[in-house]
Formats: sequence, C-alpha cells, structure tokens
Amino acid sequence: MKTIVAKFKHNCEDKLGKYMDESDYDLLVEDDMDFYAPITEIGRAQPSEKECIFMFRKNRFTVEEQASAYEGLVNAAQPTQNRGLAAGPKGERQGGRNWCDESQIEIMEYLIKGEQTSLFGRIEDPIAEIKKRHASYEVPKDARGIVWIKSKIEQEGYDYETFFETKLEEILALPEYKQSAAAKDLFEKYVSNTTYANQVLSGIAGFFDRYPRIPWGRATSYTEHHRETYEKCYPFMRKLSSEFQRLLPERFNVQNEAAAKLDPRFRVAGEDTPFTTVTVNKNFRTSAHRDAGDLHAGFSNLSVIAKDKEWEGGYLVLPEYRVAINIRPGDLLLINNHDGIHGNTELVPPEGKALEDMERISLVCYFREKMLELGSWEYESLRRKFVYERSKDCTHPLYRPLWNGVSPSMWDKNEWFSYLEKTGGKDMLDRYHPQKEVSTLDEFF
Ligand SMILES: [Fe+2]
Repeated sequence: MKTIVAKFKHNCEDKLGKYMDESDYDLLVEDDMDFYAPITEIGRAQPSEKECIFMFRKNRFTVEEQASAYEGLVNAAQPTQNRGLAAGPKGERQGGRNWCDESQIEIMEYLIKGEQTSLFGRIEDPIAEIKKRHASYEVPKDARGIVWIKSKIEQEGYDYETFFETKLEEILALPEYKQSAAAKDLFEKYVSNTTYANQVLSGIAGFFDRYPRIPWGRATSYTEHHRETYEKCYPFMRKLSSEFQRLLPERFNVQNEAAAKLDPRFRVAGEDTPFTTVTVNKNFRTSAHRDAGDLHAGFSNLSVIAKDKEWEGGYLVLPEYRVAINIRPGDLLLINNHDGIHGNTELVPPEGKALEDMERISLVCYFREKMLELGSWEYESLRRKFVYERSKDCTHPLYRPLWNGVSPSMWDKNEWFSYLEKTGGKDMLDRYHPQKEVSTLDEFF
C-alpha cells in the first residue's frame, strides 16, 4: 500500500467554479493509496488522521453491495436539484435563453398529471408547496434545458415577466376537470420543442435539516416517497460505515458520537451508520468546489456505482495537491471534501454510446452538521404539521393566499407552545422549550 505525504498545498481559489482537466494534476491514482497534507506540527514525522486528505481502496464493495446501493438510490438523481457552484461554469450554462424555471415546470407537470400525493393528503396546497420548496433554494434555471418561446408569448400580447402567473391564475380559475388539458395546452403552445440540456443530474437521499422556509427536520423527498426502495441501500451503507471505522477510527468516532445525539431515524440506515445524507450524482461533471454542510471533524465517504463500467475520464481532481483519482464501481474513497477543492475531468462514454446512454453514479455519504439542531422524529413532524395547519387556517391573523405558514420567531410564541402541548404532550414541550410557560396572559397583553 502506498502512502504519500504532500510537500505543498497549492492555492487554487481561482479555480473554484471551473472545470478540471489534465493540466490540474500530475499524479493519477488507480490503486490503493493513503494521501496526506503536509505535516505542520514540528517534530512529528508520521502523518495522522488530522492530515488525511483521502484513503482510496479498490474493489471494497461486493457485487451484491453495489447492487443494493444501485437499486436503492439510482432514482434519487433527478435533473432538479441545485448544485450551485458545482454545476459548471456560468458562461457555459446560461447564454441568455428564456429558461422555464424548475418551479414552473413542476407546476405544469402537477396540473397535467392532475393528482396529488402527499403525507398530508388534500389539506395541502401543492402549488404553494412547489413554490415554497423552490423559494428555499436556488435551482439552476437551465437544470432541464427547457425554454419558453418568448416571441410567441409577446406576440399574443402577454408580458413575458408576468406571463406564467397570469396563465396559472387562468388555469386555476377553471373547474378542476378542465385544468389538466389547459396546463397541457400551455406547455405545448409556449414551450419550445428544442431543449438546451446541460443537465445536472443530482439529488439527495436520506435526511435533511431545517431551512428557514422548511423549518423542520425531515426525510428528503426521494426517501419519503420511495421508502421501500431507498431501504435497499442499507447493506451498502453498513459496509461503508465499517470500512470508515476501520480506516479512520478517530474521525469515525467523532462522527459516530455526533450521530448518536440524533434520533436514529435521521441516520441513513439507522443506528448502524454515522451518516445522515447521501448526495447522488449521475454522469455529473462537477466543477471545482468544496462541499458544505458536513461535519467538519468527520469525513465524506464516496463511491461510484454503475451499470456500465466502460467509461473513461470523470477523474476526481484535487488541484491543491495536483492529484486525480480514477474511482471505478465498487471502489471506496474516504475523502476530506470539506476542506479540499475538488472537481471532475470530462466524462467520456464508451465508444458508440452517448453520455445520456451511460451511467456513472457517484454517492457521497456524510453527516450534516445542522442535523444536530433537530429534536426527535415526532417533534420535527409536529413542527411540519403545525406549519401546514397554519398555512391552511384562513382565520389565522397572518393568513393570506399562498401563505407558506411560516412567520418570524414563530417557534418562540405561545401559539406553537400550546399546539405542541396539545399534540405532543407536556413532556415534549418541557423537553424542547424548557424556558417557556404556556400563558394566556402573554397573549392577552
Ligand atoms: Fe463535492
């Protein structure tokens, strides 16, 4: 087994957001290796876990384990998630097209399908929910490469900026049985047949922390809606966890102790795994970036799964150390993605195949640091329910159409404390809000 301790770390801040190529590395790693940053402590000759940049191990996952991850997670990679900087250089992505944004596409899809499936059944307003979800994080406008025919919209006397909302209001004013056809008509008439895909296929499985606009801990949408399929990835996740423990015991322990503070239902495969979240990328060439949101003292765990194994390129480059890793299906890479800048070289499909016809799926399993703010599964579910019930309550003083049910400091008010006591019990109220007393006087004054 080869161990390398880097002599330098190059400054590569200027490479952030750019694609990596052969000029960004000198060493291509294709066999087992431990790689460390320069040792900064005087007098110590041997590197420690503190300096570890990556550990690479060939063929660590059995065919069965790979299949389990494939079945469980392949469909989590959808062309809808925001990957910000990682999604590629800006100039190559935009080009001034009139993109249909992701929330508009999802609203049209929802109306065309004409059905709603949700934990909360019919009390939920799905269009408000789609808007709310998209307002909370930025999806690249060109994620699906679909564009409006602006000339047609303007020819018919609409203002391009307000066109979609105007049309949406018209459709929603129709009787329900006519809405699907009207949405289809909108799509067929004003959306171009040509797509300009620079598709980013990326998704999140497992669990996620609170956002300002989604202020409850939860399963990601993929995990919530495909729970049985998702659970097939457990054998893979358990193996990943045991390899992590064996190779980097100190990092593992810190991460595992953090994970032990969570409700085990927020861990990817329950108590056996110190991860909360899995990023699933399909054929996705990331530009140089650092990962955010993971536990600093922990480590990311990366692997690749695929049906085809014949592609070339797609190396993971660490430009600061001028090293690239050729990670193939079944390999394991433990990597410090949080501190280290990383991105991929171009992915080259096997001869005779297009990129769309091949599959290279990378899985990044990590512990989201902000998950530590969460209460129990039940407590977080009540927060969700509270927000939904508020958003639907037209007698609420803050109610307005399309209200998402969220308001400033709502979690420090009597309205929430009373709701929590009523639905979760006094013990839960005392546990999560020990300082607060439910008082009617407070409301009165
Ligand atoms: Fe990354």
